[in-house]
Amino acid sequence: MKKIIIAIDGYSACGKSTTAKVCAEKLGYIYIDTGAMYRATTLYFKNHLIDLTNPKAVAKGLENIQISFHKNHKTGTIETHLNGLNVEDEIRKMDISNRVSEVSSLAAVRRQMVALQQKMGKKKGIVMDGRDIGTVVYPKAELKIFMHADEYVRATRRQQELLAKKQVVDLDDIIANLKKRDFLDSNRAEGPLKKAEDAYMLDTTYMMLDEQVEYVVNLATSKILDSMKIEAEMADLDRLSI
Ligand code: DC
Repeated sequence: MKKIIIAIDGYSACGKSTTAKVCAEKLGYIYIDTGAMYRATTLYFKNHLIDLTNPKAVAKGLENIQISFHKNHKTGTIETHLNGLNVEDEIRKMDISNRVSEVSSLAAVRRQMVALQQKMGKKKGIVMDGRDIGTVVYPKAELKIFMHADEYVRATRRQQELLAKKQVVDLDDIIANLKKRDFLDSNRAEGPLKKAEDAYMLDTTYMMLDEQVEYVVNLATSKILDSMKIEAEMADLDRLSI
């Protein structure tokens, strides 16, 4: 079966990762959480006291960062590793959420992450979620989705996710963090969050996870069939021109 690239972009906490993960499972694709890559970089910079205003220090820090994803076979979840250490829980903490937009606005950081993300998708068959996947990382992705949802609904969902990880965070703090990140992510010079012209808009405010997944998988199936048709037509044209 022909494999495609599915790019899911959108605002913070509107269900991109959960939807992308389940869609990848259903399609037998690889799921890549690019937000986790920026979060892991933020953790490294924080732990190594990297001065974000010093380009040399940032470049040196980036040289020492190795990010990889590993499946936890006990829980079935995918975990982010930074230089060989499992940092999955640590990168989801509010402290990192409060710093990540600043780190991810740095051009050098974006260059390195985008190059890595493009390498990861070379063989297609991926679902990648983030902010600039359909616009910068894979502008030619066969399927692009842009997700958004009501701010209060997003904050409540994020609060529940954190609670499941035993982190109790005030709703107002979460709303403030989402607002700040959305603003910084949408207004940075490099790879700002914006809808690609050819992306499908998906408002998840009143949607359940199953419905979101069904929407994306249905679109993916029709895009896969489209690309198979195009390939078959090209092969026919090749045969005719011999
Ligand atoms: O998806 P997330 O909320 O875990 O992402 C964390 C931050 O990383 C987000 O506020 C902006 C940044 N990010 C980015 O700049 N580009 C991406 N492709 C993914 C995330």
